[in-house]
Amino acid sequence: MAPATTAIFATLPPRERWFVRARLATAPLAELAARAVGHELLEVGCGHGALLALLAAARPQRQVTGIDLDSRKLAWAERSVGRLGNVRVHAATIEAFAAQHPAAFDTVFVADVLYLIEPGVWHGFLSAIHRALRPGGRLVLKEAEDDGSWRARKTLWQERLMVHLLRRTRSSGAVAFVPRATLVAAVADAGFTVDETVSLARGYTTPHVLLTATADTAPAARA
Ligand SMILES: C[S@@+](CC[C@H](N)C(=O)[O-])C[C@H]1O[C@@H](n2cnc3c(N)ncnc32)[C@H](O)[C@@H]1O
Repeated sequence: MAPATTAIFATLPPRERWFVRARLATAPLAELAARAVGHELLEVGCGHGALLALLAAARPQRQVTGIDLDSRKLAWAERSVGRLGNVRVHAATIEAFAAQHPAAFDTVFVADVLYLIEPGVWHGFLSAIHRALRPGGRLVLKEAEDDGSWRARKTLWQERLMVHLLRRTRSSGAVAFVPRATLVAAVADAGFTVDETVSLARGYTTPHVLLTATADTAPAARA
């Protein structure tokens, strides 16, 4: 962890500090942060707020908002990164939050959340993100992809453990990875132009895939 990030989470008990440290070591969150555009930033499914810290620390000109459904994780986020003057965290669904904050954000981040949501409701979730973005705003999405590799099998078992046995991660009805093409199609179907898809698996034991997309001015209507 970078020293600034270490200090932000030093207010947490050792177990939660370790969790954030492990998250930063095993996911390329800095690659996501590097793709932020504009000053109004939103993370959907922020958890403890590791990415919020990377986005907000030493960048007072940014307003960084995190939302999540898990009140336990949000409490840890509030006690750490939420103490920065430019960070807010809220318990909310993106559907409700976007209705209250339409076209309010320059960039929306989603890091390892879709795999916890039934694919049947992805369209509503991604369309709500579209509504929260200003026209031409950016979506930065990271998932683990099902590429048939040992990494994908390892990560699936790891996440099943986190959700079902350890109950560290709250699922919204699923724990499943999909191929990259399925992610790209779902994002395009919600009214985005996909600008970049890149594997960030190298150096990790998780098949990270990163996607950036632009919110089209007229979101696609679904038949
Ligand atoms: C694997 S954690 C990732 C946390 C954070 N994005 C990060 O990169 O460190 C997944 C998070 O998604 C949240 N989540 C699950 N379903 C969600 C939903 N429908 N809307 C928003 N967040 C959700 C969980 O509560 C959890 O905090």
